[in-house]
Amino acid sequence: MSRREAILREMGLGPIWKLRQPVGGDTAAAPAAASGPGATAPAPVDVPAVTAAAASMPAPVASPVASLDWDDLENAIRGCRACGLCQQRKQAVPGVGDRQADWLFVGEGPGAEEDERGEPFVGQAGKLLDAMMAAIDIKRGEDVYIANAVKCRPPGNRTPEPEETAACWPYLERQIALLQPKLIVALGRPAAQTLLQQEVKIGAARGQLHDYRGIPVIVTYHPAYLLRNLTDKAKAWEDLVLARRTMNKLKGNT
Ligand code: URA
Repeated sequence: MSRREAILREMGLGPIWKLRQPVGGDTAAAPAAASGPGATAPAPVDVPAVTAAAASMPAPVASPVASLDWDDLENAIRGCRACGLCQQRKQAVPGVGDRQADWLFVGEGPGAEEDERGEPFVGQAGKLLDAMMAAIDIKRGEDVYIANAVKCRPPGNRTPEPEETAACWPYLERQIALLQPKLIVALGRPAAQTLLQQEVKIGAARGQLHDYRGIPVIVTYHPAYLLRNLTDKAKAWEDLVLARRTMNKLKGNT
């Protein structure tokens, strides 16, 4: 890590992600400040129509949450006592952003700052997420919704237990149903496993399109992990380029 990058990180401002050329071009460059090997852009993608896997997925489980509108859903999340995470939270963190967004980013669960402020990804990892999104021309609040697999902070920022993600799943499921995003980006393992309903290893699952009920899902590393493992930033960059290319294709902008 360069001295400048180290200083920016200490200040909570780095790492900085910059796009060297427009996304969707023939070649894409690694982020300016990324360490490790230079990232290469993934090949152009074929966006699947509804796949066989999607078609065979079970219909949404009937839950009272499944009929809520956005405001009632947020109220239900704020008052939820479905698992033990409610006991130590300051507040639940439903999600933030454009309720008609094409993009949905899903993280793991709120940390201390999110618990304090009631908004996802506002701490250190959130700063990196904002920078990652900016690198592919996405700005918080504009055409993007940000949510978490669990809506209440796991004590000590531990990984949520399967029972906790399961208890919270109807909320994320309803958020997706209301939003109908064109593309979902799963940040880290708990988010990926929740969405894909299977064991996931990020190293193996990244770099390809998965499917959630006909919506393409791209799996990548969690920003908090990337803050600790700079060498994987190049891979996350490739995943973001894949995400942008996929979105361009879905919008017919290729
Ligand atoms: N990490 C997450 O997964 N979500 C947040 O909201 C904050 C940090």
